[in-house]
Amino acid sequence: MGRIAYVNGRFAPHAEASVHIEDRGYQLADGVYEVWAVFGGKLADAEGHFARLERSLGELRIDMPMSRKALTLVLRETVRRNRVIDGLLYLQVTRGVAPRDHAFPSRSVRPSMVITAKPVDMAAAEAKAAKGIGVITTPETRWARCDIKTIALLPNVLAKQAARERGAGEAWFVDDLGLITEGASSNAWIVDAEGVLRTRDLNANILRGVTRKSLMELIAREGLHVSERPFSVEEAKQAREAFITGAGSLVTPVVTIDGAALGDGLPGPVALRLRASYLSEASDRAA
Ligand code: PDD
Repeated sequence: MGRIAYVNGRFAPHAEASVHIEDRGYQLADGVYEVWAVFGGKLADAEGHFARLERSLGELRIDMPMSRKALTLVLRETVRRNRVIDGLLYLQVTRGVAPRDHAFPSRSVRPSMVITAKPVDMAAAEAKAAKGIGVITTPETRWARCDIKTIALLPNVLAKQAARERGAGEAWFVDDLGLITEGASSNAWIVDAEGVLRTRDLNANILRGVTRKSLMELIAREGLHVSERPFSVEEAKQAREAFITGAGSLVTPVVTIDGAALGDGLPGPVALRLRASYLSEASDRAA
């Protein structure tokens, strides 16, 4: 059975699902998105992603297309129809379809909503994490509202492509002060030379990662030291360990930065342990 997408109130075969050419998402990137990890057919960190979706929409003055309760049903139905056990659930809401004009269309224009789900090969994902990934660093070129999860991702696209062309799995943005903000599609972490877990604070221009938040809570329960203190590229290169977090990467160890091996070049024990703990806890809590 093929994949099924949800588009504006209907389920349709993935290959035939489409939106109008004057959708403001297509023409102006005027919309937001969310990505949930799916564990055992259930949504991981469901609440955190709903809360951020509502906030992103609110910041752009786009209405929630339906209540959270109704949306939960549609999301679960999308997972079910695609027979996803472990995978990723993608949701996109745009300001809707209207003749092209930068300013908002009339209030009668309804937001467009698209939902897709796809399976993830967890064995392959675990093998990748066990090996670790490389990251490259690249100048921060994004706008000043990275706290909004918008579909306008061109700097992220270019950064990720640069990473791929250099054999790396992620790109870390570096701000004017030489400090790492976050990755193109993940939050950035190190275990510094003193053994303290470090990640950028939420006053910085970054996305408030839902996985980051859950991991913070987990780290506190495990009694590890964590500090939301920025770190430089140099500090990252001298760190004991590094890793990334996100709905797509969960917790994935970083083993090289700009081609230079971190420590012994193997995934760090803290990152590997946190990945296992996060996976087990997030699966238990999935709803
Ligand atoms: N990306 N920072 C950026 C720029 C991101 O795009 C993401 C997620 C994160 C991590 O956030 P979370 O833990 O809530 O997934 C941080 C998603 C997975 C994506 O673009 O596919």
